[in-house]
Amino acid sequence: MSSTADTPDPGNLALSRKEDFRAFADAPRRDRPEPLTSAELSALHPSARAAYHRRRRVWHANLGPVRTPQLAALHEDLWDIVDSNLQDGDKAKGAVAVDAFPGLGKTTAVLAFARDFHRRETGEQGALTSKGHERWPVCRIGLTGNTGMKDLNRSLLEFFGHPGRDRGTTAQLGKRALDCVLSCETRLLILDDLHFLRWHHSSGIEVSNHLKWIANEFPVTLLMVGVHLADKGLFTEGGTAQETVMAQTGRRTTRLDMRPFTIGSETGRREWRQLLLALEQRIVLTDAYPGMLADDLSDYLFARSTGHIGSLMTLINRGCQRAIRTGTERLDRDLLETVKNDEAAEQARQELQAALERGRRTSRPRQARRKAA
Ligand SMILES: Nc1ncnc2c1ncn2[C@@H]1O[C@H](COP(=O)(O)OP(=O)(O)O)[C@@H](O)[C@H]1O
Ligand SMILES: [Mg+2]
Repeated sequence: MSSTADTPDPGNLALSRKEDFRAFADAPRRDRPEPLTSAELSALHPSARAAYHRRRRVWHANLGPVRTPQLAALHEDLWDIVDSNLQDGDKAKGAVAVDAFPGLGKTTAVLAFARDFHRRETGEQGALTSKGHERWPVCRIGLTGNTGMKDLNRSLLEFFGHPGRDRGTTAQLGKRALDCVLSCETRLLILDDLHFLRWHHSSGIEVSNHLKWIANEFPVTLLMVGVHLADKGLFTEGGTAQETVMAQTGRRTTRLDMRPFTIGSETGRREWRQLLLALEQRIVLTDAYPGMLADDLSDYLFARSTGHIGSLMTLINRGCQRAIRTGTERLDRDLLETVKNDEAAEQARQELQAALERGRRTSRPRQARRKAA
């Protein structure tokens, strides 16, 4: 688990610079720590045991990404759009907005796509462009609180490590960013957490115009990710001046969704079970057993996460940490009861848990229930 100077520890990457992004994209998959029996674990020398615990801590903190149906569907749509945008320069490219609540896996899925796209493009076309510049198929910016247009342009220059990122007007910074995108032959521009852009009042038009300028001038697929983007008017077609400007962005923007898991249908229950089975494969605890999640904790985990993958993964991650630390070495209801989850999940939980306990709802598909009976 050591890291050398040229392969940064993936835990330290902020992904807002191209070198970080490349390290992320090129990083080999983490190796799953080999599962031990409890006898083998107690036979380890204390220092070896500490090292094993450490590897499992890091492993459980990074269990993803699981190829969920949501992630797979998003990737298919993104390949369709990105590849159909590889037309000649002067044609306007379609933009994409991934618009969904927090914790549904937007960032995870989009980064996994960005990584695949980076690898495919550099694999097929080489690390350098025909003019000898470094090839950067993906530029990815994560916005933070109340970003303005100038900050956004500066972040683009930061990503490319452009020396002129600290001076100039918004337009000059934007022009330099365009130069970077052109010389690095960037094809996919990801703006994550776009809801942090300053949208209010008159700047709504400014934002919209700016995004339109990027969409028109930059020969990229613009991939916007955020929460409540539709409410910000990104897709509306309407009467007022502001809405009309927005609509022009909207017409070429395809909206993609990430949905939570649901248990209202047999298909939904089967998907939930698949996810739990996939996670079971990854958990490394000495007393884990087949069915630990998918049979024995299915309803419980659904109630606590209400089908939100972010809440589920937090719970599993923290549960595994506690199971290792306390020597429990398995996940069960008693242990998970002591683990805190995020507030939104806790609130939604109360009602759902009551229904599940009264047996009026179930998270498990018919076949799995029959087998257990
Ligand atoms: N496909 C997945 N497999 C495993 N874990 C995931 C997956 N998608 C999301 N997660 C976990 O859920 C958490 C929230 O996901 P994130 O992508 O940050 O959501 P969003 O960007 O929609 O807020 C992350 O910590 C991540 O570990
Ligand atoms: Mg996110």
